[in-house]
Amino acid sequence: MPTRWPMHLGLLAVLPVVDIAMGKGRIPIHRVPRAQTTYNRVPVLNVDTSLETSNQFAYLVSINVGGQDFMVLLDTGSSDLWVVSSDCTTGDCAGVRKYSKTPSFTSTDMPFHLDYLMGNVSGTVGSETVTVGDFEVTSQIFAVANATNGLGLHGTGNSGIMGLSFPAEASIADTTGRTVVENLLSAFNDTSRRFFAFKLGRDQDSSSFTVGELDPTYANSTGDLTYNPVFTSGGAPYDYWKLPLQSLTVNGTSFSLSKSRAARAPAPVAVLDTGTTLILGPTQDVARFWESVGGARQTTRGWEVPCNRAVVVGMVLGDGDTQKEYMIDPADISWKESSVDGEWCLGGLQGNDGVFSADWLLGDTFLRNVYVTHHAASDSQPPRIGLRGLTDPTVALAAFIADRGVDSGPPAQVRTRADHTNSLTGGDICGIATAGGFVAGVAILVLVFTFTGHHHRKY
Ligand SMILES: *[C@@H]1O[C@H](CO)[C@@H](O)[C@H](O)[C@H]1NC(C)=O
Ligand SMILES: *[C@@H]1O[C@H](CO)[C@@H](O)[C@H](O)[C@H]1NC(C)=O
Ligand SMILES: *[C@@H]1O[C@H](CO)[C@@H](O)[C@H](O)[C@H]1NC(C)=O
Ligand SMILES: *[C@@H]1O[C@H](CO)[C@@H](O)[C@H](O)[C@H]1NC(C)=O
Ligand SMILES: *[C@@H]1O[C@H](CO)[C@@H](O)[C@H](O)[C@H]1NC(C)=O
Repeated sequence: MPTRWPMHLGLLAVLPVVDIAMGKGRIPIHRVPRAQTTYNRVPVLNVDTSLETSNQFAYLVSINVGGQDFMVLLDTGSSDLWVVSSDCTTGDCAGVRKYSKTPSFTSTDMPFHLDYLMGNVSGTVGSETVTVGDFEVTSQIFAVANATNGLGLHGTGNSGIMGLSFPAEASIADTTGRTVVENLLSAFNDTSRRFFAFKLGRDQDSSSFTVGELDPTYANSTGDLTYNPVFTSGGAPYDYWKLPLQSLTVNGTSFSLSKSRAARAPAPVAVLDTGTTLILGPTQDVARFWESVGGARQTTRGWEVPCNRAVVVGMVLGDGDTQKEYMIDPADISWKESSVDGEWCLGGLQGNDGVFSADWLLGDTFLRNVYVTHHAASDSQPPRIGLRGLTDPTVALAAFIADRGVDSGPPAQVRTRADHTNSLTGGDICGIATAGGFVAGVAILVLVFTFTGHHHRKY
């Protein structure tokens, strides 16, 4: 049975009014360097602080809250909107634009708190007129933050986060009001337009974010995309933008993955998440991956690879007839922007057994290679994800070799099969069946660290 989404139409006493100048669903994305790891809900266990000073990028959108403009992080891995308020006095929020209450602000007196492994945010829940591109929501529920810690907001210049995942993951209870996504998509009576789409750019100008329409640079019609239903386990509420990840390919050779930690998942589950920089997966698969590529080493930063090691990796996503391989640019696997002396590049895939929402987290290093659409459920269909691969492996490999020089190492020797031992405890930790929201997820995550003996000194 498909779940209707938005689910709360008609349930609230006062419905927000969503106005849109039709046909203008385009919202500019700004790609900015991160001065430090500003927002990583999931820690990279074996990576120390040097990663924080590496040149990562964040994808921001400009929104207007009560007549004031703010840059917020576009995050498909969470569901709340929050913005720093003028009474925020912590050092972390110094130097970013802050929201001052206006006559259109309504407070609920409900406290708001979110813990990140690298920090936290607190404040109160209220509602205000919020404009995203040409969409104006007259009464959008959001949190005004009076304290942020450890998020490094000033480094990136964002005043908050706009979460675009499912209401079940929102920290602000869905009885209080609808999420930004629910409100934006409710502007469309035509349910086929209830979707948002983006492409994360490799430079300042090549990103795209649209609501209710495709960007013709990347797709003109539904025939240009391959659709899969969002994965959910046994009737649990939809939580994140999840797909089955059947396998990887390493230079054309199939590389099978350890089975999912989620009960009842026929294949490992991957979350598409713009709020995470890298691709994170189970440590034993990621170790076997780098051993397959060859020449890689594990340091305190994580897996590193010689910067000229050329390898084309594919991700086989989806199920049945709509299963498809999406190719990753070799430059996303060997990350020059975070190199040591231009010789050792940070691996775009890193191990992490603490990903609570799924088995794999596909962050920006994957998402830069695809055009992706996120569809709400309709009466006839569950929520769906549409994907179009944008990386031509031949072209990308040639550009990589031209930039990095010839790789003189021996060819990859792919260890195609996973070991059958699975040393992880707590098979259900990934929280696929929990709807407890992010805070619960973090609590679970901390327990997992303790039980499995991983201890990260920063926490
Ligand atoms: C938020 O983080 C700060 C600094 O890391 C810490 O001192 C504080 O106790 C945290 N607040 C909560 C409520 O967890
Ligand atoms: C933030 O607001 C809450 C709720 O009004 C209050 O309890 C808390 O003391 C405030 N914190 C700061 C740092 O002003
Ligand atoms: C959507 O339907 C409502 C109610 O029937 C109507 O008032 C509104 O004008 C419609 N909006 C559009 C964009 O067609
Ligand atoms: C969409 O159509 C336009 C106009 O015909 C064309 O320029 C563009 O390349 C097409 N986009 C794709 C992804 O095929
Ligand atoms: C992967 O294949 C390409 C193209 O054949 C080749 O240039 C490259 O060296 C291979 N990489 C490895 C690690 O074997």
